[in-house]
Amino acid sequence: MSKPSPVGTVMIAAARAAGRALARDFGEIENLQVSKKGPADFVSNADHRAEEIIYTQLSKARPGYGFIMEESGIVEGTDKSNKFIVDPLDGTLNFLHGQPHYAVSIALEREGKLLTGVVYDVAKNEIFWAETGRGAWLEQRKLRVAARNRLNEAVIATGTPWHGKSEAAHTGFARELLAMTPACAGIRRYGSAALDLAWVAAGRFDGFWERDLKPWDIAAGIVLVREAGGVVQEIDGGDVMSTGSVLASNADLQPLIEKQLRHAASFGKQS
Ligand code: IPD
Ligand code: CA
Ligand code: CA
Ligand code: CA
Repeated sequence: MSKPSPVGTVMIAAARAAGRALARDFGEIENLQVSKKGPADFVSNADHRAEEIIYTQLSKARPGYGFIMEESGIVEGTDKSNKFIVDPLDGTLNFLHGQPHYAVSIALEREGKLLTGVVYDVAKNEIFWAETGRGAWLEQRKLRVAARNRLNEAVIATGTPWHGKSEAAHTGFARELLAMTPACAGIRRYGSAALDLAWVAAGRFDGFWERDLKPWDIAAGIVLVREAGGVVQEIDGGDVMSTGSVLASNADLQPLIEKQLRHAASFGKQS
């Protein structure tokens, strides 16, 4: 059994504290103040409260570290080597609809490399954590990506573009679904990218792809998948933390999923 490093322990404690506040707010979502950041991009005081807790705890425990946070943006640290990447509530839309599938996601980037990831599924009280070289864990259980190597037996998670995204994004996604659904055993869209990646690490999903995510959606989950023996790539071969277009699976399924996504790009084009 592995133990998290001191900073990993601090990150887990911050995720749990934010989770406690989220669980309280989830019990009375009708009292939350909800506003829109974009056409279908909601935020509530629960998101802000959770982020405040994480920021307060982490900045006290590691003064000088930088932050990238979904709601409060960038805080430049005096320590240029270390940066926390924080999504206080991943799955806001689920949360606001009373659906118990949402998470806290905290990652630590050191010298430009993702080092530690914590994803806390509050409703199920599951802490997924991973650190480079220490493995990926769910409580006492060491995580390993699924071993399935046939796409037609695989359950693949994805994320749909929402209202307000470009027509090209919606059309592109429709093509990808058209290519993926007949090829795999089943597609799932549960609404938390951080948990989608954690579930790939845990072998609950055989793969996951989604385009156009933000660093805070994926940073912690990437560490989890890699440390669970999986592969993470940018769908079109770029830098995944810049574009947020992510494909994660085991090494056997990765080329098969990639092939279907390439195939999707040819749909609707004149030959
Ligand atoms: C969202 C979730 C969702 C994904 C969206 C994200 P949020 O994050 O991860 O699964 O499809 O693209 O924005 O806004 O709930 O933190
Ligand atoms: Ca959001
Ligand atoms: Ca998110
Ligand atoms: Ca969020």
